[in-house]
Amino acid sequence: MSARAGRSRRRAPRGDCGWDRVAGWYDGWVGQRGSRYHRALAIPALLDLLRPQPGEAILDVGAGQGVLAPYLLGEGVRYTGVDASPRLISIARRRHGAGARFFVGDARELDRLPGVAGQRFDAAVFLLSVQDMDPLDAVLRSVASVCASEARIVLVMTHPAFRQPRHSGWGYDPSRKLAYRRADAYLSPMSVPMKSVAGCAPTRSHHRPIGGYINGLATVGFTVDAMTELPDLPGSQRRSSRRPSVQPDVPLGIPPGVPPTPAMGSQEIPLLLGLRAVRRAPPRLLNPRGPERSARHRVRPGEPRSAAERLTGVSTGPATR
Ligand SMILES: C[S@@+](CC[C@H](N)C(=O)[O-])C[C@H]1O[C@@H](n2cnc3c(N)ncnc32)[C@H](O)[C@@H]1O
Repeated sequence: MSARAGRSRRRAPRGDCGWDRVAGWYDGWVGQRGSRYHRALAIPALLDLLRPQPGEAILDVGAGQGVLAPYLLGEGVRYTGVDASPRLISIARRRHGAGARFFVGDARELDRLPGVAGQRFDAAVFLLSVQDMDPLDAVLRSVASVCASEARIVLVMTHPAFRQPRHSGWGYDPSRKLAYRRADAYLSPMSVPMKSVAGCAPTRSHHRPIGGYINGLATVGFTVDAMTELPDLPGSQRRSSRRPSVQPDVPLGIPPGVPPTPAMGSQEIPLLLGLRAVRRAPPRLLNPRGPERSARHRVRPGEPRSAAERLTGVSTGPATR
């Protein structure tokens, strides 16, 4: 093999931000049906916001090894998963390939990805993945371009206001015997390297204030209409004795050494934030109630012709009915 060919084989896949290198570790943490955080918190929150309907085409952006696929397939949807990591996608295909479609691709360039470009998905979902992607505007523009004119986007992420990687944590105030959550930074977007895993270069988590998501979605025509905030698992269900040797970017809760108190933030301070945004087809101004109404409301000379014209008195162009 020539030196050049060797270099190109080693080159990271387009859009990959280090996840391909840690695929084995990540799959060990998530497992076949999802980590306990996936199963108890993130996946139920996503399904609740998404409300998938049988037959819908749903795109899972940053699908990883396809942990969400069996849950969505169980709802009768047509599932497509995209991820930048070839290794994670190959695990996904092996596990869930029957009935699901998986593609290696960059979430910022879905409009150029064979098998995805030109599709009109009813919904796109990001399960704990949007914070691993950057820049957000390119990702949202690309996702919106493969969604139907009426569609929804659901994002489930670690809560940007309370769980900023490396810029937030638990503290304890002995005078009040109170555990509290501290946030060192919030308003400034930042790209934060996560802990190195299995000797590999760290992946990065991209912090943005919540407004960055809401305004970013609005820019591509989607309006947030539902939001959910979820606390951490109750203490007994949290992984404490067998913490993984490396830290995933789903924070595992209150660190050892912080004394528990009844008002402990685990149930008051959210771990996850879920947002649902919808894009609705533009209202049909002409003939709003079908042919019956249009027959009864024949335009007479000088009479405003459309609903918009009736409301504003301004001509919106020649009538089409
Ligand atoms: C924390 S993992 C989440 C995976 C999966 N959704 C889950 O919950 O297990 C984040 C995923 O985002 C993917 N990712 C990051 N940037 C990407 C990009 N630009 N295009 C596609 N996938 C990307 C990574 O490869 C990784 O699999």
